[in-house]
Amino acid sequence: MDKIIVHGGATLNGSVRISGSKNSALPILAAALLTKEECIISRVPDLSDIHYMLTILSELGCEVERASGTVTVKAEKVVTNAPYDIVRKMRASVCILGPLLGREKEATVSLPGGCIIGDRPIDLHLRGFEALGAAVLVQAGNVKVLAPRLRGATINLQGKFGSTVLGTGNVMMAAVLADGTTVIDGAAEEPEVEDLANFLIKMGAKIEGAGTRRIIVEGVKELHGAEHAVIPDRIEAGTFLVAAAIIGKEVTVNRVDPRHLKALLDPLARAGFEIATTSNSVTLKTGGVRHPLKLETQPYPGFPTDMQAQLCALLATTEGISAITENVFPQRYMHVAELKRMGAHIELEGATAVITGVPKLSGAPVMASDLRASAALLLAGLRAEGTTEINRVYHIDRGYESIDDKLNSLGAQIERVKA
Ligand code: UD1
Repeated sequence: MDKIIVHGGATLNGSVRISGSKNSALPILAAALLTKEECIISRVPDLSDIHYMLTILSELGCEVERASGTVTVKAEKVVTNAPYDIVRKMRASVCILGPLLGREKEATVSLPGGCIIGDRPIDLHLRGFEALGAAVLVQAGNVKVLAPRLRGATINLQGKFGSTVLGTGNVMMAAVLADGTTVIDGAAEEPEVEDLANFLIKMGAKIEGAGTRRIIVEGVKELHGAEHAVIPDRIEAGTFLVAAAIIGKEVTVNRVDPRHLKALLDPLARAGFEIATTSNSVTLKTGGVRHPLKLETQPYPGFPTDMQAQLCALLATTEGISAITENVFPQRYMHVAELKRMGAHIELEGATAVITGVPKLSGAPVMASDLRASAALLLAGLRAEGTTEINRVYHIDRGYESIDDKLNSLGAQIERVKA
């Protein structure tokens, strides 16, 4: 298994180009299952999670081609049973259920694996499919959904931890080919849901309200091929901005949509960083006093859970007492024990991390446990004295395209040791 070695202390400066969004690309690739015609999707990031999705599509019978960032999918004939060996590696595989149910009225996948960030059920997805008229069977580690026909319905997808991003996408993808009108209340408002809806609309779907709490889908008979460019990855952009805040001078992230980053930029400005935006870039400048923060993760447009671990790394060396409450995945704190091994003072009180800033961290061997936790350890390593060795970096490669090369282009000193 590859390792990443971070030599701490180098200042970051310059600009970096942000890749297409992983969380948009995954359901958009799955949506190509909804038509027999060719779909061409560009700005698809080169990540292991994307490779898993392309393998799943191939195994389902699709013709899949990839030329740098552009993926062509033609799903002329498909089978409806996804192979366990691949599906178990990635939780987002669950988003093939909606399009297969929509098109073939039947789909089977293994119950999802992926990041270990607490208990991650799919009950809300299944509730949505049932409301559309599907039967749901869970047996031998698989979930099977089937329906003689799908009928539009009014569905509330609000769960006890808020809305569900992939669940909203999944139900929307099943509803586009249902008879009649579906109303999804309590829908996730994330930009990735809106991006998926925009792709479905290009394929001929009738959808209104994506990006708001209520999405209305009017079923159509069939969809056709379409071309689409995936939106920029707001979490990758945010991670580079936090790296800059931790040990940067002036760093610009290019090819981003600053509107998607507001919930991060506001607290960074409150913490004392100077932020400047254009229509497609954000620049963060450091200098002056840094202030501690109190933050709570929330579904979009709130502060994203996918940035919580990276903020822990920043606040670990920010003088004063900070607190972050994790409302979306209350157990998502695997990075805390590892950050403490690097000298951070973090106490967990239920779903709240109370962080007392220390002047310095020290490098240590650490273990990556999930995607964003690994990013936090990498960022902490940039600031730490000495060397940080991160094991199990396949977690980072699931969601960041060449993060070591991109950080090195800003002045970091990171080596990757191939297994
Ligand atoms: C997506 C993102 C992930 C992000 C998360 C929250 C992708 C590929 N992944 O994951 O990076 O951290 O949104 O922004 O897009 N829940 C239920 N029942 C369900 C579904 C979810 O109780 O059926 C709960 C989850 O356990 C969690 C909360 O709802 O507490 C939000 O989860 P959800 O939005 O579904 O996350 P994902 O879509 O899987």
